[in-house]
Amino acid sequence: MTSKAIRDDAKVLVTGGCGFIGSNFVRFALENRPGWSIINLDCLSYSGNLENLTDIEDDPRYEFVKGDIRNMEDVEPLVKRCDAVIHFAAESHVDRSILDAGPFITSNVQGTQVMLDAVRRVKSDGGKAPVFFFVGTDEVYGSLPLDQPELMFTEETPIQPRGVYSASKAGADLLVQAYHETFGLDTRTTRCSNNFGPYQFPEKVIPLFVTNLIEGQQVPLYGDGLNVRDWLHVDDHCEAIIAVLEKGAAGSIYNVGGNNERTNLELTHLIIELMGKGKDMIRHVEDRLGHDRRYAIDPTRLKGEIGWQPTRSAWPEALEETVKWYVDHPDWWKRVKSGAYREYYEKQYAGR
Ligand SMILES: NC(=O)c1ccc[n+]([C@@H]2O[C@H](COP(=O)([O-])OP(=O)(O)OC[C@H]3O[C@@H](n4cnc5c(N)ncnc54)[C@H](O)[C@@H]3O)[C@@H](O)[C@H]2O)c1
Repeated sequence: MTSKAIRDDAKVLVTGGCGFIGSNFVRFALENRPGWSIINLDCLSYSGNLENLTDIEDDPRYEFVKGDIRNMEDVEPLVKRCDAVIHFAAESHVDRSILDAGPFITSNVQGTQVMLDAVRRVKSDGGKAPVFFFVGTDEVYGSLPLDQPELMFTEETPIQPRGVYSASKAGADLLVQAYHETFGLDTRTTRCSNNFGPYQFPEKVIPLFVTNLIEGQQVPLYGDGLNVRDWLHVDDHCEAIIAVLEKGAAGSIYNVGGNNERTNLELTHLIIELMGKGKDMIRHVEDRLGHDRRYAIDPTRLKGEIGWQPTRSAWPEALEETVKWYVDHPDWWKRVKSGAYREYYEKQYAGR
């Protein structure tokens, strides 16, 4: 382990800061690292929503730049200005990757290569290259069987993605490890389990189900509902990222998870109960193609070496709090569901 890798007054480039985890991270970091300043590079794809950050958009420590991680001209000037890059930007929805693989390859694989090359250029020009932090996923490890609950993903588990999204994230993840080995870049990688919390795009299961129930619609549950996911509150993920950035070694990889495995059926029943509805609101639909059966993360390395512990993911209270956030913020999700959120960029940034 090295001493603290970045300064207390670091300039941090966040990619994808208008998405679910990125926007929670920007807010979390400004609150918890008051000396940092943050540049948020986001192309505002369908899941990028500037309204996720209206509360901090005038903070002098924060700057938004509309740009694409696939364009070196957008990326390089920003990478040159910063001490660390935290790379969230990606296409993130498995169902969309089944419909169209193209954006997953260009944004997740090629976009990560452009980001890494920008860091590499700073290094080869003799400058101080920023730390490159890759926000990865447990889905790169593939799928575990239901009948061997003792099996969990460790950092030594082979990368064996089974879907387009996970394959594209695995491609990016392996490029990060290659740039560390080949060019000596100071990289950090986390592979995290499913996140929940506020500002998640309502195509993902928790906000989709809550908002459907508010609108009196049934919730579509894939297959037998027995697929297992390991749920972690987004703020626990944000805390793990900062901890690994500050305390992790160059080239290190950490699994992040809350030992909080739930079947989709269990999750659905709990959401329905929290919303005061009946099980007749479940609509069983044909299973997702290639649906991974079970993900389970072993976070022992992160806990032992870095001293991280999840503190906000306790179940069912943390889920109840998240459900309540969507119930209390109809303006936010109604604008997302109607598409109105996309007008915000013009309103806020036109003429600036
Ligand atoms: N959501 C989870 O449970 C989870 C778990 C583990 C890891 N991750 C990873 O965390 C990251 C963020 O996930 P999320 O759920 O917040 O996703 P999201 O879809 O909510 O946000 C993605 C953001 O990236 C931006 N983006 C996409 N392509 C871009 C491009 N070419 N250039 C610039 N910006 C671009 C989008 O506009 C959006 O703001 C992803 O890398 C994802 O793989 C997510």
